[in-house]
Amino acid sequence: MSTHSSTYNSSFVHRFYRWMMRRWQLVTLAIGVFLGVVFYGLMALSQQPVHITMLMTALDIAQERHIVEAFEAQNPDIKVDVIEGPNATNLVEDLYTSSFLLGGSPYDAVVMDVVWLPKFAAAGWLMDLTDRIPQEELKDFIPETVEGSKYQGRLYRLPYRTDSGLLYYREDLLQQVGAQPPETFADLINISKQVQQSNGADWGYVWQGRQYEGLAAMFVEVLEGAGGFWVNPQTLEVGLDRPETQKAIQFLKETIDQGISPPGVTTYQEEEARRLFQSGGAVFMRNWPYALPLANADESPIKGKVGFKPMVHAPGQQSAGALGGWGIGIAKSSPHPEEALRFAQYYASEEAQRNLVLKNGYLPSRRSLYTDSQVVAQYPYFPRMREVAESSALRPPIAQYAQASDILQRYLSAALTGRTNPEQAMRDAANETRNLLQRYSAS
Ligand code: GLC
Repeated sequence: MSTHSSTYNSSFVHRFYRWMMRRWQLVTLAIGVFLGVVFYGLMALSQQPVHITMLMTALDIAQERHIVEAFEAQNPDIKVDVIEGPNATNLVEDLYTSSFLLGGSPYDAVVMDVVWLPKFAAAGWLMDLTDRIPQEELKDFIPETVEGSKYQGRLYRLPYRTDSGLLYYREDLLQQVGAQPPETFADLINISKQVQQSNGADWGYVWQGRQYEGLAAMFVEVLEGAGGFWVNPQTLEVGLDRPETQKAIQFLKETIDQGISPPGVTTYQEEEARRLFQSGGAVFMRNWPYALPLANADESPIKGKVGFKPMVHAPGQQSAGALGGWGIGIAKSSPHPEEALRFAQYYASEEAQRNLVLKNGYLPSRRSLYTDSQVVAQYPYFPRMREVAESSALRPPIAQYAQASDILQRYLSAALTGRTNPEQAMRDAANETRNLLQRYSAS
């Protein structure tokens, strides 16, 4: 039986061999086609663009998508997947934070507000870019934006946009009541009352009063104008329970109590304030520079009627806009750091920033663009904006900023909405902040 079967097997092999030899051309062709398919398949796979992912506020994506598209057009080997986040910066920070804490963060490019950087860098979530970006490349940047991109002397982000808080006012309404732009807290209150009484506008002043990061940014300006401070980043001294802080809160509360600000102002973010101001409903507004081109757009009822200056202050004091601004860092966990870096470099490039300024009126982080002929032709006020951007007040650049800001936001909001007495609120805020900072310096 076994002899029979082995004879059968060997004769089959023989026949197959003879068949192959007769059709060798056909066989060679089939092998060739097979190898070709495999080869071209691999080639096609290797030419698929690399996907990098980033998360941004929905508002910023709407304004900045053209930069992402321009980058993709110039870099067909990279595709940028943009994830829309909420508009409050601290909520986007929370999303990034939880994704890093859970491990395996899906984000390659980390679009960062200036106040997040110390925390993200201290936690080790970001790639150190110090040796990747030549000093020469940073020369044109406003020094504060580069400083705000560093932690312990190392660079972790490329700034592509800066920000500084401004006080906007309606030139026409001030003229109607014969007033000069206000200098002091009392000036702003008095002018508001005059305009409101003459029915020039329903409200005097709109600002960011909601419990979120914008409240802290706005408060830093008023606090500076009252001669106070929040946290000294060098000594970690806390100034929230000093009399100057009460003076700052008193000004804001007065605007609500005296009907100068709408009662709902304690729920406003930037956009709520801008919409009310732009519709002609208020004399004054605290906001960032992005609001000016929108107020001057063709369809805006207040086009050409808006002036801006630094925040008002107590007599004998000075104020400054809070330094804001955005930049891109690279997640240490990114599987595509080179592609993400190319993207960050493009976003911070002169070409991209010029386009961002021309389209949206954002403040660039590159100094030369403030006097760029195309930019000035479109925004004649830009050289003045550079002075504003270069003299901004800092929110404390400390690694525990998110927690410190959360403490201030909670107690300040309670004080402004009348839930807690302002002195008590700030005593508690100061103590909680001191505990936080002590825990940190002890560890
Ligand atoms: C703007 C600023 C940012 C700030 C935020 C507050 O986006 O650029 O620095 O934290 O507003 O709402």
